[in-house]
Amino acid sequence: FMKRRKKWSRYPPGPVSLPFIGTMLHVDFRRPHVSFRQFHKKFGNVFNLQNCWTNVVVLNGYQTVKDALVHKSEDFADRPYFPVYEHLGYGSKSEGIIVAKYGPIWKELRRFTLSTLRNFGMGKKSLEERVTEEAGFLCSAVESEEGKPFDLRFLVNNAVCNVICTTVYGERFNYGDETFKMMLHLFESSLNEETGFLPQLLNVLPILLRIPGVPQMVFRGQKVFMDFIDVLIEKHMETWNPAHIRDFTDVFLTEMKKGKEAEERGFNYNNLRLVTADLFIAGSETTSTTLRWAFLYMLLHPEIQSKVQAEIDKVIGKEKPPTMKDQVSMPYTNAVIHEVQRCGDIVPVGLPHMTYRDTEVQGFFIPKGTTVITNLSSVLKDETVWEKPNEFYPEHFLDANGQFVKPEAFLPFSAGRRACPGEQLARMELFIFFTTLMQKFTFALPEDQPRPWEDGHFALTNAPHPYLIRAVPR
Ligand code: HEM
Repeated sequence: FMKRRKKWSRYPPGPVSLPFIGTMLHVDFRRPHVSFRQFHKKFGNVFNLQNCWTNVVVLNGYQTVKDALVHKSEDFADRPYFPVYEHLGYGSKSEGIIVAKYGPIWKELRRFTLSTLRNFGMGKKSLEERVTEEAGFLCSAVESEEGKPFDLRFLVNNAVCNVICTTVYGERFNYGDETFKMMLHLFESSLNEETGFLPQLLNVLPILLRIPGVPQMVFRGQKVFMDFIDVLIEKHMETWNPAHIRDFTDVFLTEMKKGKEAEERGFNYNNLRLVTADLFIAGSETTSTTLRWAFLYMLLHPEIQSKVQAEIDKVIGKEKPPTMKDQVSMPYTNAVIHEVQRCGDIVPVGLPHMTYRDTEVQGFFIPKGTTVITNLSSVLKDETVWEKPNEFYPEHFLDANGQFVKPEAFLPFSAGRRACPGEQLARMELFIFFTTLMQKFTFALPEDQPRPWEDGHFALTNAPHPYLIRAVPR
């Protein structure tokens, strides 16, 4: 008992907790990273919150996040349970990857996903060729805007999503395709449904989800999105042929056919739809949002844009499509892309973790089963690491000789056991899409358009507010 009391006396500090509701009223759930910034200043690198009766600890700053995710990787590898996803088919043996509990099924599915994506080209030439081909389609679509003001968002989303689509379903959608537009729209509403006070409340008070109609009403977009995925999978099941494996879905179906033992390892229908949804959700919104920040920063910093174009012209030339091999000879462009990720701060509060056992960070005791938020924003903007944390400054990634360097606090993909498995694919897409467009166009702010906002809109990701752009052929 004394030992327990001693441990809990080292529980992190935090704002005053009210009966029943805990600290929920102190947090702006539409912009949690902003609330966390204030608590960080007040309580230090490790502070606690209380969502009703759920204990939440928020980790801030590079050293703290690294201590937890890298040095005590397994202690922080679990995920909290999200009752709000039950109505989409989440259950004990079907949790997909992103919100799956730390354990053998998560491990198996993560390993399977990584190796299958790799076999279908991830990290290899064939996927690079696919990304390059898609970059070509993107260029033609941008060209057809004829230098007039337009919102780049739809084309970029389409291009990035097509990379996932071809890998998972072996199909791509033409730009402007009505079904695809509908899917993208569902995507955005699904993400918006995740943020705010209500989803948080439903997670800690799941009894409310039993009120007939509540899940369907609050998560309408997610439900329709999953229905859309079901249609795609059913189409695949009808045409599945073990002698002719086409894509990720086919490989998963092949595993499923192995029977009960495979089912136990997580290869069941529900998991197929959830893993697929995970790849779409995690793999498209993040990358396309990063690219939208990239072009926004180019609008706002024309001198940086000119330097990138000069390097592209020198290393690649004006005609040859960029390849990943060019990247090593392009320190400035590489630095700009990294700075876009740092400054754009795309996943500001990461994904929630949960402690797998009792543990400690920076001298604070954190019991097993505590929800842990890794405040990635506080790492990417850590004042003790970055020279100009709140400015767009590519020099953060260049040494005195203009060579590319990557500070350890560059953690947009997080770290440890749950680190993003799509990092390699994302890097390839960012480099090839960005350089291909910069090779062919100069991006400018339309006349009489006010300077776009530099702060973002938070809906799990931190995205730029919509802006118009002119793509002037070079
Ligand atoms: C997880 C960032 C692209 C698939 C994550 C996490 C972050 C992240 C911060 C949470 C890690 C944690 O829990 O600590 C990003 C960024 C991307 C990107 C910034 C693009 C610029 C992708 C792509 C894919 C992908 C292209 C798929 C091919 C996943 C999956 C997880 C994940 C499946 C869950 C991993 C797990 O729980 O084990 N990502 N990601 N991501 N990401 Fe990404």
